Amino acid sequence: MSNAERLRHSQKHLADTYTGYAGLPPLVGLHPMFEATTKGLTVAESVSRLKRLHWALRRLHRVFVSRVTSTPIYELKMAFSLHAHYCAEHIGELATRVREMRQPPHGLEVSPDASLDLFFDEVLAAPTPESLVLGLYERAVPAIVHALEDLSRDTNRLFDHATYRICRLTLVEMQDLQSYGAEAVRCLVSESQRAELQPWLGVLDRMLAAAGGLDGTKPPSGEAVSRQFSEPPYKYDPVPKRDGRFKDPYNMGVNAEAMLFNPEIAPLPKTLMLYFKRMREIDVPEMMASILAEAGDKPWEYYRDMTRQLWDEARHAMMGETGFVSLDIDWSAIPFNFTWSLGLNTMLTSKERHAVLFTIEQGLMPKKTGKEYEWKVAIATADPLTAMIQDFDWADEILHAKIGREWIVPEIGSQAEAMAYGDKAWSKILVDWKKWKEDGLTEHRNWWPEIYAAACRHWGIEPDPALLTYNTTYENTRADLKEVAF
Ligand SMILES: [Fe+2]
Ligand SMILES: [Fe+2]
Ligand SMILES: [Fe+2]
Repeated sequence: MSNAERLRHSQKHLADTYTGYAGLPPLVGLHPMFEATTKGLTVAESVSRLKRLHWALRRLHRVFVSRVTSTPIYELKMAFSLHAHYCAEHIGELATRVREMRQPPHGLEVSPDASLDLFFDEVLAAPTPESLVLGLYERAVPAIVHALEDLSRDTNRLFDHATYRICRLTLVEMQDLQSYGAEAVRCLVSESQRAELQPWLGVLDRMLAAAGGLDGTKPPSGEAVSRQFSEPPYKYDPVPKRDGRFKDPYNMGVNAEAMLFNPEIAPLPKTLMLYFKRMREIDVPEMMASILAEAGDKPWEYYRDMTRQLWDEARHAMMGETGFVSLDIDWSAIPFNFTWSLGLNTMLTSKERHAVLFTIEQGLMPKKTGKEYEWKVAIATADPLTAMIQDFDWADEILHAKIGREWIVPEIGSQAEAMAYGDKAWSKILVDWKKWKEDGLTEHRNWWPEIYAAACRHWGIEPDPALLTYNTTYENTRADLKEVAF
């Protein structure tokens, strides 16, 4: 028996026979003693894997954010918003752990491996929703899940506990991405599309192999793999796209605010305007994605906070969706215009867009026309779902106003200056109600009577004849920030 074997043998013996007081598990149950004495990575090995995971999540976050606007499928926009948020939350934790580990320079801002970047460049540039979901959910996300599983398995839970804990918690959400993604692939990618994309998936595999795996634990293949979709490099597409259920995207035929703020109108029909306004918030992630895609060099906390807000706005759209479904209303009969996200994304700078958002969200705070008022209307409808929607919408919008105060106000100056800057930026956006109609972009169809009648059928009541004739458009009340409330 060699010395090393003898040592291992005695460690095993000690570990097997060692127990805590009154049989309590030793080491707080993190490891059986034998494992604790024999397994683990060095600080340098742990840091090396953490850095690659950190970089991979940053790149993955970027893919999700960059593709929110131009991906037409609503469910994918929503999923990308959530998945970007999950990435953003964990990126900061991984970076913090790296900084704790005695290995400066941390190098968190530079790529740990050119082949790893090639891999993510390719996923980012996937040209269709089908190739994108395959690249994301059958390659990038599983590679991250795998690396997290390996690191939490390989490192010593006692010595490197913080790493173990971060990996384990990150894993929970990354596995959610993986299982949702598997469903997305199953629903969206046909066998023939998969067959067509198989060579590209092989390219992705070879890029990861050239990087020595996502976590760099395998010997790099040494192969120089050529780009396929990322030549020329991907360019963010700021034009919002929607799927076929979203019709008439220039329609500004029904003024939701004019009805909501009319004290003469009863609360119940206003339910529909609340749901409409919530679901119309689909344009906020479409717009915020452009801020993030073009923000440039900002502290990571900026990206984290803004991504949280982006996800909240996506949630608000889905809250509106739940409302319509609860009333058995086919929301695809309602036009949710995209003129706001289109205008801001194509005519303003990233800073201007953020200021417009801030100005609007500050405008939601007054009692009489803001979120509290909407919540009171919701309570008055006596529908618990509507009340819950507005309750959380209000809470979230307060957080968003705070995020704005933290990030865009200091960039511009005072709060008043930021508001004025946003106001001025918004005035650059042409909302030409008549011209859109003349150009044949929309008829500004009044969708209200048909949706109101459908809701009344669901409620089992007769429509109010006066309300059936509601026909107030956005023609004369320009969609100004002072009037458009989110
Ligand atoms: Fe909202
Ligand atoms: Fe908001
Ligand atoms: Fe919002």
